[in-house]
Amino acid sequence: MNEPILSVAGVSKTFVLHLREGARLPVVSGAGFQLLAGECVALGGPSGAGKSSVLKMVYGNYRVDAGHIRVREGGEVVDVATADPRRLIRLRARTMGYVSQFLRVIPRIGALDVVAEPLVGDGVAREEATARAGDLLARLNLPERLWPLPPATFSGGEQQRVNIARGLIAHRPLLLMDEPTASLDAANRQVVVDLIGEKKRAGVAILGIFHDAEVRDAVCDRVIDVTEFAKAA
Ligand SMILES: Nc1ncnc2c1ncn2[C@@H]1O[C@H](COP(=O)(O)OP(=O)(O)OP(=O)(O)O)[C@@H](O)[C@H]1O
Ligand SMILES: [Mg+2]
Repeated sequence: MNEPILSVAGVSKTFVLHLREGARLPVVSGAGFQLLAGECVALGGPSGAGKSSVLKMVYGNYRVDAGHIRVREGGEVVDVATADPRRLIRLRARTMGYVSQFLRVIPRIGALDVVAEPLVGDGVAREEATARAGDLLARLNLPERLWPLPPATFSGGEQQRVNIARGLIAHRPLLLMDEPTASLDAANRQVVVDLIGEKKRAGVAILGIFHDAEVRDAVCDRVIDVTEFAKAA
C-alpha cells in the first residue's frame, strides 16, 4: 500500500513562444516528487513560479519535454508523459480528478445536474446521484432555489462551490486542485477544509495550489516549492 499514487521524475518543460520568434521560457527542469494515498501536498512558490503549469502537466494538459509522470491505477501504472489520448481520458475518468480554478459552465444544465454528472458517468443511478449532489450543495450552503438553474449567472463564489462539489462528488484516488477556495467566505472555506479532510481519510492523494495560508496549513501535510525545480531550468 505504500506505493505512491503519483510519482513525478525528471520532468522538464520549456515553453516555446512561436509568436515571439521562438523565444524560450523554461519553467521546470528535473522536477521530481511523490504522493502517497491520504496525503495532501501543496505546490508553493511565488506567482509565475510554475505551480499551475506543474498541475497541468500532471493532468496531461501540458506536454512535458522530458521525464515521467506515473499514476497508479489499481495494479497498473500509467505514464501521463507518454500515454495516448484515449488512455489519458480513461485515467481521468477513473483515477485522476481535477478541480479547476473556475467552473467551465455547461449551457442550459442546472447546478444540481452539473454536480451529479460525474456520479452518473460512474454508473450511479440518477436519483441517487442527484440526492448526493443535493447533500453536497447543501453542505456548501448553495441556496436550494439555485439548484435547478444553470450556473452561468451565479456569483464567483457560487460558481466555485458548484465546481468544488462537482470535483469532489465522485471518488478519484488522485485529486488535483487549483485554488479551490479563492472566492469563498470563511464559513465556506471551512466546509472545503472539512471535505478535503474527509477525502484524505478515504485515502485520496491531493496535489493542490492553496494561496490561502490558513487553508493550506489546515489541509496540507507538506509544501513543495516549485522554484526548486526552476533552478536548473
Ligand atoms: N501556455 C503557456 N505558454 C507560454 N508560457 C506559459 C504558458 N503557461 C504558463 N506560462 C508561463 O510559465 C510561467 C509559470 O506560469 P504558471 O501559471 O505555472 O505560474 P504560477 O506559479 O501558477 O503563478 P500564479 O501564482 O500567478 O498562478 C509564467 O512565466 C507563465 O507566463
Ligand atoms: Mg497559477
